[in-house]
Amino acid sequence: MRFPRAIIASMALVVPALASKEVTQQALLKTAENAVPGESALFTTYTGKQTPLASNYTQVINATGTGVPGADDLLFQNLLSAEWVIYSFYQQAVEIFNSSSFTRLGFPNTTYERIREIRNNEAGHARIFQDNISENSLKPGPCTYSFGFGDDAMKFLALQIYIEVASQAFLTGLQLQATLNVSRSTLAALGQVEARHSTWALIENWKVSPFSGPSDTAYPYANQILDMTNSFISSCPSANPEYPSPRQNLPQMVFWANGTTAAPGSQIQPYFYQASNKPKFETGKDYYAVFYHGVNTISVPYDWKKGIVTIPKQIDVASGIIIVNIADEKDAPTEASVVAGPMAILEQPTALTTEEPDAITQ
Ligand SMILES: *[C@@H]1O[C@H](CO)[C@@H](O)[C@H](O)[C@H]1NC(C)=O
Ligand SMILES: *[C@@H]1O[C@H](CO)[C@@H](O)[C@H](O)[C@H]1NC(C)=O
Ligand SMILES: *[C@@H]1O[C@H](CO)[C@@H](O)[C@H](O)[C@H]1NC(C)=O
Ligand SMILES: *[C@@H]1O[C@H](CO)[C@@H](O)[C@H](O)[C@H]1NC(C)=O
Ligand SMILES: *[C@@H]1O[C@H](CO)[C@@H](O)[C@H](O)[C@H]1NC(C)=O
Ligand SMILES: *[C@@H]1O[C@H](CO)[C@@H](O)[C@H](O)[C@H]1NC(C)=O
Ligand SMILES: *[C@@H]1O[C@H](CO)[C@@H](O)[C@H](O)[C@H]1NC(C)=O
Repeated sequence: MRFPRAIIASMALVVPALASKEVTQQALLKTAENAVPGESALFTTYTGKQTPLASNYTQVINATGTGVPGADDLLFQNLLSAEWVIYSFYQQAVEIFNSSSFTRLGFPNTTYERIREIRNNEAGHARIFQDNISENSLKPGPCTYSFGFGDDAMKFLALQIYIEVASQAFLTGLQLQATLNVSRSTLAALGQVEARHSTWALIENWKVSPFSGPSDTAYPYANQILDMTNSFISSCPSANPEYPSPRQNLPQMVFWANGTTAAPGSQIQPYFYQASNKPKFETGKDYYAVFYHGVNTISVPYDWKKGIVTIPKQIDVASGIIIVNIADEKDAPTEASVVAGPMAILEQPTALTTEEPDAITQ
């Protein structure tokens, strides 16, 4: 197939200068304090192990004004706290691993390079969110995190799909909270990048179809998805606001991976893993396991005494992500009707469903 000449001209690709020499990277790092996402190689092709972020951006940034907070300040504060989780996940990997950590396991020789680029992108997200919080609100700083992958590159890559899918889900859900139109388009634009990250991993690393069906999963209560990332947080600067805000602090839920394929039609047994935060089910009251897949919501009765539910078999061939919560009303019509969860069931690659509970209960 031939493209018309005009299209070819407009497709002209800017070939980035190959800046692989360490000295060039050091020079690039010196520009970090004034680097703008979308205008700096620090957020794209930078190859250093050291963070691309200047130190005056990797801490709590106090409000400098006392006026009215921006209309979406709270949303972007929540997002920035979430982004510190995602960025730190990649920054830790860039520091711990090198190219041979992945090639040794049979993954492509570009894997480390891609992880590093994704780290750069995520650092850019953090800067974008900082810039989108007005001067009248504090910008949360990074916490310390424990992801549990240690020096296990395989475990890191398995968890990577979970992290990306969770970030797509909250970026989509937070659009329901945005006040400004420009915030909505920012959220959509960033969600696309997270989708590219997981698409790359699914094709190149896991050799599976990257598609998730006609729609990715929309989950209406984004703060509940954000709260799932608290399981990775060890401790935060005391000045940071509560995360997420507001926080329901619902009992977190995973499922036992033994004895299930976790595919539509199979049974799963939810497990509330926080010893001090278990759901308080009332005898005689009806509960539902509410499944979200694509833009659909399907409820099935949840008998908390048996604690086993069947994933609705009408959900299409195992693909993408299913999000489940336990609610005390059919279809969980309000945030308050959710009594536990949510949890994410990854339907690709299948093997990863067995990693997930481990990874998030450590
Ligand atoms: C970080 O430092 C740069 C260069 O001095 C400055 O322009 C920028 O305002 C600083 N940002 C913050 C949040 O302190
Ligand atoms: C930010 O404010 C807190 C208390 O309000 C103060 O302790 C801290 O030093 C301030 N940070 C900076 C960088 O000015
Ligand atoms: C990668 O790291 C391992 C151990 O962590 C080390 O033995 C190896 O030399 C490193 N490889 C490269 C190419 O730096
Ligand atoms: C990376 O892998 C590709 C394809 O497997 C191969 O063609 C290429 O030579 C490899 N590059 C390096 C630097 O090893
Ligand atoms: C977010 O920041 C970008 C520049 O980094 C700006 O173009 C955009 O308007 C900001 N959006 C909001 C909602 O402040
Ligand atoms: C957002 O866009 C819609 C449709 O163009 C418009 O009606 C509305 O006024 C905009 N809202 C804001 C806050 O700008
Ligand atoms: C899975 O393992 C847990 C913990 O050992 C056990 O309680 C549960 O009954 C097992 N489920 C199945 C379906 O085997």
